[in-house]
Amino acid sequence: HTKYRPFEPVAIANRTWPDQEITKAPIWASVDLRDGNQALVEPMTVEQKKEFFKLLVDVGFKEIEVGFPAASQLDFDFVRWLVEEDQVPDDVYIQVLTQARPELIERTYESLKGAKKAVVHVYNSTSKTQREQVFRLGKDGIKDIAVRGAQCVKDHAEKNPETEWVFQYSPESFTGTETDFAIEVCDAVIDVWQPTPEKKCIINLPATVEVATPNRFADQIEYFCRNVKNRDSVIISLHTHNDRGCGVAAAELGMMAGADRIEGTLLGNGERTGNMCVVTMAMNMYSQGVDPELNFGDMDRVISVVQSCTQLPVHPRHAYAGELVFTAFSGSHQDAIKKCLANQTEDKPWDVAYLPIDPRDIGRSYQEVIRVNSQSGKGGVAFALEQEYGLALPRWLQVELSPIVQRFSEEDGGVIQAADMKRLFEEHFMTSSAPYALG
Ligand code: KIV
Ligand code: ZN
Repeated sequence: HTKYRPFEPVAIANRTWPDQEITKAPIWASVDLRDGNQALVEPMTVEQKKEFFKLLVDVGFKEIEVGFPAASQLDFDFVRWLVEEDQVPDDVYIQVLTQARPELIERTYESLKGAKKAVVHVYNSTSKTQREQVFRLGKDGIKDIAVRGAQCVKDHAEKNPETEWVFQYSPESFTGTETDFAIEVCDAVIDVWQPTPEKKCIINLPATVEVATPNRFADQIEYFCRNVKNRDSVIISLHTHNDRGCGVAAAELGMMAGADRIEGTLLGNGERTGNMCVVTMAMNMYSQGVDPELNFGDMDRVISVVQSCTQLPVHPRHAYAGELVFTAFSGSHQDAIKKCLANQTEDKPWDVAYLPIDPRDIGRSYQEVIRVNSQSGKGGVAFALEQEYGLALPRWLQVELSPIVQRFSEEDGGVIQAADMKRLFEEHFMTSSAPYALG
């Protein structure tokens, strides 16, 4: 059908990204308090931002986009609170977003007065769609906005030498921009900032709208990395959204294609379908033995803070974090898990069927892993009774008890608690009148 334009892939010769692995953590940047916040039905209050910021620091982020202070008084006040109350650890950069307009850049610097370290993130949209229909400007006009913005950012920084500044530029809607033109604009910004390998700038490439399969995005990134000016002096950052449901995959392949830094949010809040989920990508790395340099050992705290600040529930099947993602109901899965768990020793790599990671690593317990309902079999019943009551039933007894538990669940229509299983066991096997009394 002709309503939608097909995606035009970038022409790339001898791509290398398909042979790469992710072997080390990227530089992570959280955009929860800016991109995440701007997409909420009810944006966060200052108090909620404070709580969220503390969580982000505790998880281990060293770069945290805290708001858009020139666009929101609340964000301005929050940045002032961070600076004046000395709330930012010495090794953390607060990052703020601004459009490439002189009056907004000036206000942005006002908000940051006295900050120890800050990333000033300036952006303008470069896509064909926005050039033609929103700004009604040609390519030169759009490049000019970027260059004047970059110059203005530099001039203000020079007037405030007490802060350690890092400059970041985003060609917003990069995925809708001809890649050669995006490079031309970024090169022009780099010419203004004159970064060096010792004092790099950040070029952030947003999939503002995800418009292609992740391999196509990776091609764009590899092409960009090969052709952008002064690659050694530039940190290439990715900022993917999830419109096609592939935000994490795009970030992963983009990293393989040469990117150094990833922006995203905890659990994927953000405009429309969300930003890429940092929890998922970090835990993907963790599950392959790569240290993500973020700590999700207390996933329940992460969920609780994110839910209370965003008012958005976490889906029970959300990767790694969902309430049901380490739970097996089916008999064959339960049986396999039980057998594998019995074989685990600390000196061997984790190797348990159906469990990609050890749930204890994110603060979950084995009790939650095996839950018994009408789909479950003897393995699950035996596991639950052993975990909860230390009752190690012999195999023949497991075989006898399991259909009784199953019938109870069918009648009751849900998950059976260990206490009910124990009661059924006692009623059927331990009383003198029990149908299967054990003598
Ligand atoms: O999605 C986007 O393009 C953004 C930019 C402002 C980086 O959030
Ligand atoms: Zn975004």
